[in-house]
Order: sequence, then C-alpha cells, then structure tokens
Amino acid sequence: MLVRSPSFEQFEGYLESVLGGAAANNANGPLIREHFGLDDPAAKRGKRLRPQILLTVAECEGGDGSVALGAAAALELLHNFSLIHDDIEDGDEMRHGRPTLWARHGVRAALVAGDAMSALAYLTLVDGSPDLPPARVAAMLRCLQEAHFRMCEGQAFDIGFETATFVTFDEYVRMIEGKTAALLAVACELGAWAAGASEERAAAYSSVGRAYGLAFQVRDDVLGTWGRTEETGKPSGADIRRRKWSFPVAWALTQPPSADRAIVADAYATIGMLGEEHATRVIAALERLGARDAADEACLAYINEANGISAAQALDRDGRLAALFNSTAKRTV
Ligand code: IPE
Ligand code: IPE
Ligand code: MG
Ligand code: MG
Repeated sequence: MLVRSPSFEQFEGYLESVLGGAAANNANGPLIREHFGLDDPAAKRGKRLRPQILLTVAECEGGDGSVALGAAAALELLHNFSLIHDDIEDGDEMRHGRPTLWARHGVRAALVAGDAMSALAYLTLVDGSPDLPPARVAAMLRCLQEAHFRMCEGQAFDIGFETATFVTFDEYVRMIEGKTAALLAVACELGAWAAGASEERAAAYSSVGRAYGLAFQVRDDVLGTWGRTEETGKPSGADIRRRKWSFPVAWALTQPPSADRAIVADAYATIGMLGEEHATRVIAALERLGARDAADEACLAYINEANGISAAQALDRDGRLAALFNSTAKRTV
C-alpha cells in the first residue's frame, strides 16, 4: 500500500511559496509559473515523484521530513528545468496536456526560463535548509551538481543517438543512467543526507535510486511508444516518430534476424523523423517481437534490483520506498 510521508503533504505548498517569492520579483517568473501550471486550477501538475522519494528516505532514516523540504523543492526545480530544456531538445510541443514553454514563447525565452529555474534550484537548497549544518548543505549541493552534470551527459547521448544509425543496448542503458537515473539516485541520496545518515548509507541509497531510475525510464519508454495521450499528456508514438532510442527499440535490435526486426532496424538506420504510417508499422513490429513484454519484465527486474539493495543493506526500514517503486511498473501517467 502507498503511504505518503507526512512531510510530502506540505510539499506542494512549500514549492508554491518558493515559486511565489521568485516569481514576484523576476522577469522569468511568469514563464516559470506557467510551466508549473500554477495559475490554472485545471492544469495537470507533475507527479512530484523525486520529492516524494527524497522525503520518504529522510523520514525512513529518522529525520524530521520538514528539514528536507528545501532539498526536495530544489530537486523538483532542477528536474523541471531539465524538462523545459528537454522539450526544446526533443522538439516536443506538449507536456501534461498543454503547450510546452518553447512552443508558446519561443526557444530563447524558454531557454532562459529554464536557466533561471536551474539557478533557483541551488538557491532553494541553500536558503531552504536553515536547520541543517552548513557543511552538510555544502555536501548536498555537491551531490546535486554532480547529478545535474551526469544528467546533461545522458541528454548529450540521447541527442547524439538521434543521428546515429545504430546504438547498442549497453549504450542505451548508459544514456538512461544519465538522463533519468542520476536525478532519481540523488533523490534517495539527498534524503539520506538531510536525515544525517552516514556517508555509506547515503551511497547505498544512491545505488537504490539508480536502479529504480532505470526502471522508471524503461516504463517511460513504454509510455512514449504505447501510452495514451489522455493519460500521458503527450502525443502517442512520438518517441518512434522522432526515432528516439528507447528500450523497446534497443532491445528489439538484440534479437535474432527476422522480418519484424528488419522493419525496426531499417527505420532506425535512416536519419530524421519517421512519417506517421512508417512509425505505426515500426510500433506494430516491436509489439510482435515482444518488445513491450520485454520492457515490462526489465522494469520489474530493475525495481527488484532496487528493493534487493534496500533489503541487503537494511535501508527502507518500513517498506514505503519499495511500495512507491512497485507502483511504477504499472504507471500510465
Ligand atoms: C519525466 O519525468 C522525465 C523523465 C525523466 C522520464 P516525470 O514523468 O517524473 O515528470 P513529472 O514530474 O511528472 O512532470
Ligand atoms: C527526459 O527524458 C530526461 C530529462 C528531462 C533529463 P525523455 O525525453 O525521455 O522524457 P519525456 O518523455 O520527454 O518526459
Ligand atoms: Mg523528452
Ligand atoms: Mg529527451
């Protein structure tokens, strides 16, 4: 059963107060608020998964979760900065069922709003952690910057792969380890730091978050291929039209030669976007090859890996993290 951490109940209000302060006095404020859907009560908001994980770990390690709210908001801001830039990089015009910032305001305004949000993330970690010892806050800042750096490496691989005619399965894993798992690993790690856990436990939590991050991205890849727009808030099949290297594709190309494998391989050996019909044929071939089932299995295997590390190192004492992770295997949003 999913049990929310008490501090997570405070999170949305805390984030709104951070954004309220920043937005009131900064020219980037209106775009930042628009990205978060703050001024439209009907707007779908993000899942707040990274703060939820961070606060769950902080509480599990015996901390009062409220001391970790600054770190949780910082990470959510950094994640959302990455989404603003990611939508520019991916050419995606829709997220959470509404136009992305670049689609509405142009690339230049969206870039700078994203940059402002990234700076605000680091400010929020420092200003929002008054009850933590300064040396610990400095260590947490370093962790967050390192995760940011690694996330950018993953994005660089992802962009580079769009013009590659072949990507190995290991290269694909290295890419998602950067673009997605780095921020989920640091969510776990920062939760441990905020609670005053030992460096060894913080590092173990980072490994848990890394494994979970791979599961999260594999599920994201399934949704990017077979997800429904009403649920994901993104156009259906977009990853394949853009010839993104996702789990189903990278896995399909590890399979023995067949007519269906050739459909996928040939489409990905070209450069540039695929037409609507061509993408539909590739998606059908992936399904027949069993790529969707393989992705579901891989997602579960990575979740089990994460939970296994927790069990072996006596982390996640009350099982709340595992419950959160397990829900990812079936997420549709
Ligand atoms: C999207 O993350 C980007 C990925 C790393 C796959 P989320 O799916 O967690 O996005 P929000 O926070 O709900 O908007
Ligand atoms: C997002 O990866 C990773 C980052 C934002 C760093 P994707 O491009 O696969 O995620 P979505 O599908 O656009 O959310
Ligand atoms: Mg994207
Ligand atoms: Mg991307």
